[in-house]
Amino acid sequence: MRFEHSCGIFIYTHKEGRRLFLILKRGRSLDVSKGHIESGESEVGAAIRETFEETGIKVIPDRFFRHNMTYVFRADGELIKKRVTMFIGELPKEEKVMLSHEHTGFLWMDFDEAMKRFRFNPHKRLLLHANLYIDRIERMSGLNARYMRLGERTGWTLSRNLVPGCGPLDAKVMIVGQAPGANEDVRRVPFVGRAGEMLNRLLKTAGLDRNRVYITSVVQFFPENNRAPTEEEVEACLPFLREQIDIVDPKLVISLGNVAMRVLTGEDRIMERHGEVLPLKLISGRETRCFVTLHPAAGVRFKKNVRLLENDFKRLKSLNKIH
Ligand code: URA
Repeated sequence: MRFEHSCGIFIYTHKEGRRLFLILKRGRSLDVSKGHIESGESEVGAAIRETFEETGIKVIPDRFFRHNMTYVFRADGELIKKRVTMFIGELPKEEKVMLSHEHTGFLWMDFDEAMKRFRFNPHKRLLLHANLYIDRIERMSGLNARYMRLGERTGWTLSRNLVPGCGPLDAKVMIVGQAPGANEDVRRVPFVGRAGEMLNRLLKTAGLDRNRVYITSVVQFFPENNRAPTEEEVEACLPFLREQIDIVDPKLVISLGNVAMRVLTGEDRIMERHGEVLPLKLISGRETRCFVTLHPAAGVRFKKNVRLLENDFKRLKSLNKIH
């Protein structure tokens, strides 16, 4: 059997309040834009090029969504196992479909119509995954827009720059720190300073890929001079964190430091509890698991904490099947 790997982008747009997906026609069969990876090309690079060649649309896909379609077919008597890595991308304003000769037409279909008309199960599964993921994108961007407005309040003493959570919106593992630092405030990305470097090392110890976890903090605005956020600040920000957890709906939350552990689990003594898995109540009423550990900044500041952190993350790895 021969193996092939292709990549593509499932394009969507909004028209008159409806979410529509771009479906390509080849004779009577329906497909999405995709094609072979050329030598030296990355997956995303191939997806962008193929989409442009087939549809005339230049689109940068969502950084985190990935969906693999796999199927086996026969061509000229040979059995071929194909994996197609699909990304999603929203149709940029001003872009229009200009089909290549490979396809005979295109359709913009809503979810129900596409589900009905796709004959091929891998297409249906892609559509289902993409549609749910776009729901999450829209909920999260609405949440971030509301959260950002918190920083416009008069008397606000945190930075006015929101550092939103970052990572796949369907991550199995979510990491919750305390509050961004000065580097994060400039780059608007969580954990990119020294504590971030330590976190990256610890994630490797646990066998976790940073690109596959969702990373955020209890307070998502920088408290100047790295002071701890006040109770009022935590209280103002907490509903947004709870809603983020609800959107991502992770199987496991990792809380970093005492503040995150306290607000998520109600426990208060991190040096006694670190390394444990505690229950975490979601706003939906459902319960998930929270692995509690020290904040990586504690390891940056005091060497003795590095060993504790490493042991916790080794333990985390052994807590079977977290990803
Ligand atoms: N520490 C945190 O708790 N969050 C960040 O984003 C960075 C450092």
